[in-house]
Amino acid sequence: MTFTPPGQNSTRGNLGPEGTESFTPAQLAQFDGKDESKPVYIAIRGVVFDCTTGRSMYGPGGSYGIFAGKDASRALAKSSLKAEDVVADIQGLTEKEVETLEQWETFYRKKYPVVGRLVQ
Ligand code: HEM
Repeated sequence: MTFTPPGQNSTRGNLGPEGTESFTPAQLAQFDGKDESKPVYIAIRGVVFDCTTGRSMYGPGGSYGIFAGKDASRALAKSSLKAEDVVADIQGLTEKEVETLEQWETFYRKKYPVVGRLVQ
């Protein structure tokens, strides 16, 4: 993993120790799995996870490639793979959907390292 974006000095994104980097949506989108030399990142409720070990699922052609490089909160909450649902907006979710989202966040926190936060 030798990718170093212009103006940045780590392999994981912006400056700062692990877990404290910040990404705009456009920066996060660079980590969509299409470039195999870069890690794969997915955000849930603004927390950015390094899902590179799940590249077979999140890379191009993978079952969940639609989530890569994005905040997938709404889609995870609604168990949806529709592009329109792969957004950070979680307004109007049912209680059950919020619960589903929380379960996914717990799952990702156990499985994948946190890289940082999504900022607008
Ligand atoms: C017929 C429907 C579905 C089947 C049979 C299915 C099957 C699976 C399987 C077998 C895995 C484990 C993959 C692995 O560890 O290699 C998985 C993981 C996952 N599925 Fe599905 N799935 C279905 C629908 C969905 C839908 C609609 C969503 C939308 C949110 C979804 C989201 C996920 C996510 C986020 C993971 C975890 C990936 C990871 O470990 O990082 N799945 N699914």
